Amino acid sequence: MSFTTILTEVKGKVGIVKLNRTQAMNAFNAVMLKELFDALKAFDKDERIRVLVVTGNEKAFAAGADIKEMAESSAVDMLTQGHVEAWDRIRAVRKPVIAAVSGWALGGGCELALSCDMIVASESAKFGQPEITIGVIPGAGGTQRLARLLGKHLAMEMVINNRTLNAAEALQFGLANRVVPVDGYLEAAIAFAEEIAERAPLAVRMAKDSVNAAFETSLTEGLKAEKRNFYPLFSTEDQKEGMKAFIEKRQPNWKGR
Ligand code: HXC
Repeated sequence: MSFTTILTEVKGKVGIVKLNRTQAMNAFNAVMLKELFDALKAFDKDERIRVLVVTGNEKAFAAGADIKEMAESSAVDMLTQGHVEAWDRIRAVRKPVIAAVSGWALGGGCELALSCDMIVASESAKFGQPEITIGVIPGAGGTQRLARLLGKHLAMEMVINNRTLNAAEALQFGLANRVVPVDGYLEAAIAFAEEIAERAPLAVRMAKDSVNAAFETSLTEGLKAEKRNFYPLFSTEDQKEGMKAFIEKRQPNWKGR
């Protein structure tokens, strides 16, 4: 894969995508958006990779959509370019995606982190939806995901009044899974990804799908979705191996079959 605005790397079973428009605080222009989602799709397809990590740099995870690119756009331009719709592509990724966030995660950058499955934040991470300060609102899921994650009142404050959350608040309110020192924050996220990469791959996939179902539907339908993912696992080699290994008091050897 060859890209101009992102860097990619494979470390064992972990695929890493690093946003790399440092000069613009990793603001998303059309090229970076496409490259990001193309890279995630390629890693999702790659059999060697089990978990994905998305990151920026120490100062900025991503400062949102590129305001300079979008400033003169009309409603029709925004609709026909399909940039906002492109964000749905991250929901199609079946493997777990961890956001390693340091510095600014603003606007679309915050929405990217929210679209991932888990967040490792450095102590300098700051999450916010400042769209209101430039006369618009979040367009890539911020209003919906923040309301579901944080509840109505805090989400409302973030979206209506540009309230930002620092790393400690993100942890306290359940946005971040863990907060780590800036030095080595990416390594910490990769270590977290490596832990998950060693788990039974098919069960991980079904687990992700089941938890995500909770955000889409009623409890009754969600419980049905969970069962639809639970039963088929009993036809996998990994279920037999996992339970046998427990009984034989040894580590399981997962095949992803
Ligand atoms: C374009 C951006 C940018 C952005 C930063 N830059 N954010 N360019 N779009 N979103 C550029 C600056 O213009 C500047 O370029 C360079 O990056 C460094 O930024 P500074 O502002 O000088 O840095 P600093 O003072 O440290 O402030 C950092 C910052 C601030 C707090 C992140 O840049 C900022 O507030 N950025 C805008 C954040 C924002 O409003 N995001 C929401 C966008 S709307 P030059 O050339 O001057 O050096 C959105 C909607 C999503 O995301 C809809 C779905 C797709």
